[in-house]
This record gives sequence, C-alpha cells and structure tokens, in this order.
Amino acid sequence: MAAKKAFWADVATVSTLQGDAAAGEAGFGMCLGCHNGANMNMGGVIPPNLDHAGTIYDKNYLVALIKDPAMASNVDHKYADTMMHPMGSIKSMLSDNQQIADVVAYILENKAGEITPKEAYAEACMRCHAVRYGKITQLGDTPAFKYEKDELAHKIKVLEEQDMVKAYMGKLPPDLSMMIRARGAHFMETFIENPQGQLPGTSMPRVGLNHEGYEKVKTYLTEVGDPSKAKREAIGPIVLGFFFIFTLLAFLWKKSQWRDLH
Ligand code: HEC
Ligand code: HEC
Repeated sequence: MAAKKAFWADVATVSTLQGDAAAGEAGFGMCLGCHNGANMNMGGVIPPNLDHAGTIYDKNYLVALIKDPAMASNVDHKYADTMMHPMGSIKSMLSDNQQIADVVAYILENKAGEITPKEAYAEACMRCHAVRYGKITQLGDTPAFKYEKDELAHKIKVLEEQDMVKAYMGKLPPDLSMMIRARGAHFMETFIENPQGQLPGTSMPRVGLNHEGYEKVKTYLTEVGDPSKAKREAIGPIVLGFFFIFTLLAFLWKKSQWRDLH
C-alpha cells in the first residue's frame, strides 16, 4: 500500500513537469518497437495500436504506465519483479522523468484526434476481449471469406491467439457482446477503472481511460449489444410517414362523407 502511494505521488510530480513534445518524438519511437500494428503477440497479448492514445487515456495513467506498467494497471501482485510485465522493459528504456514527460507530451499532442467508438474499443479492449456480435476477435475484424479453407485457417489463428491470452490471464476474458446489457453501464465504468475493487483477485488489469475514452467504448458496446436498435431507428421515419399519410386520408375521407350530408 505504501509503495503504491509513493508510486502515484511520484507520477503526480512527473505529470506537473512541462513536457516537450518535439523532444518526446524519439522516445515515442521506442514504443513503436512493440506498438507497431503488426498484430504480433508479445508476452500474452498483441500490443494495442496507440494512434489515439492521447485521446482515450488519462494523462497520469500514461505517465504511470511508462514508469511502471505493472503498478499502473494494478497487476504488480502478479510480478515479483515488474520488469517481467510484457511492457516492463520500458522502465529501463525510459527512466528519466523529463524524458517521460516529453513522450507523454508527444502522445497528447500527436496521438490525439477524432476516434470512432469501434476504434476506441479496438485500442483499449480488443487484445483481450472478443465481440461476437461485432465480428471482432483478438485479431481484429473477421474478414469475409470466399473459401471455407481460408475461414478455417483464420479460426485456427484466432484460437492460437486466444490460447496465448488465456495463458497470460489465467482464463479467456469473456466475450463482451452482451456485457453492458447484462451488467449495466455503471458497473462497466467502475470495473474498468478498478477491476480489483469489483472482482478481488481478478487478472484483468486496470485500463486507465479518461472520460472521453470510456464514453466511446461504452457507445460501441451499447450499439453492438443491441443490433436491432439501428433498424428500429431507421423504421422510425417510415412509421411517422405512415401516420401522416393515414391521417391525411382519414381527413379526406371524412370530408367526402360530410359533403353529402351538408
Ligand atoms: C516491450 C514491448 C513494449 C514497449 C516497448 C511498449 N509497450 Fe506498451 N504495451 C505492451 C504490451 C504487451 C501491452 C499490453 C499489456 C496488457 O494488456 O497487459 C501494452 C499496453 C500499452 C497500453 C495500453 C494500456 C491499457 O491499460 O490499456 C498503452 C497506452 C501503452 N502500452 C503505451 C506505451 C507507450 C507510450 C510506450 C512507449 C513509451 C510503450 N507502450 C512501450 C508492450 C510494449
Ligand atoms: C489484458 C487483458 C484485458 C484487457 C485489456 C481488458 N480486459 Fe476485461 N477482462 C479481462 C479478464 C482476464 C477478465 C476476466 C476476469 C475474471 O473473471 O476474473 C475480464 C473481464 C471483464 C469484464 C467482466 C467482469 C465480470 O463481472 O465478469 C468486463 C465487463 C470487462 N472485462 C470489460 C473490459 C473492457 C470494457 C475493456 C476495455 C476498456 C477491457 N475489459 C480490457 C482481461 C482484459
């Protein structure tokens, strides 16, 4: 507990340093050694794309993650030596506080911008959780296959990836298609921010999203969990149009009936 307090106090100090985004670009290059979009598993999961990390993650969390990924995501109890975390080697690559502040400044300045709900999901959760309703696996979007042979080959790759995630997490993280409906949005938000608080002993790491990042992930999971919603919304105007025409016809009919009576 004391070690955690000291860690977050240190993070808060680094957060107040004035970062130089231009100077941080070189440091960020080290991140790309792993976060390179190559879809290659590294120590358990495929490192997520960082294209919008400046939009979806909390600044303090980014500082903390570079300082000590196991501490930042609250899984330090899993590692006797936090260098063992699959991102742990960043500690020796970037150990100077000013350098860390520079990299974070670079991320906030250059890796921000508009992000779709699905992209937010892909960057924050997809490496661990599949979403069947969205045809998303830990390997990303499931392509459309012409030949069954190719489809089976892809399924095998997905299973192999899931085996690695399972070995890393101790269990395969659940499919999230229906999760927000089953658990509710409030549970979801507090769970992501502090999985240990809701499920003591869980292996899911804390994901340090900021408000915007969380809202995007929530939007994606809400839409994917309710595939008929888009259809219902498309039907809305048709129903209104129908009522309008029906009312008009009824009015004309009434007029024609009353004409004879007057
Ligand atoms: C040695 C490979 C490696 C390097 C270098 C590396 N990362 Fe990572 N990073 C990973 C892996 C693996 C994960 C996924 C860990 C997990 O989910 O348990 C990850 C996860 C992340 C996440 C997501 C965290 C979350 O909670 O959702 C962010 C953001 C991130 N890294 C940023 C960075 C930044 C910034 C740098 C450079 C300063 C960097 N990484 C360098 C391997 C690396
Ligand atoms: C590094 C892997 C990893 C990442 C990244 C991750 N999760 Fe998880 N998640 C897990 C594991 C493992 C479990 C199973 C936990 C357990 O049962 O102890 C889990 C469980 C869950 C649950 C179910 C909780 C319950 O009560 O059963 C929800 C909801 C969830 N994750 C949401 C998310 C969301 C949303 C994101 C992205 C913001 C995310 N997770 C990112 C590994 C991950």
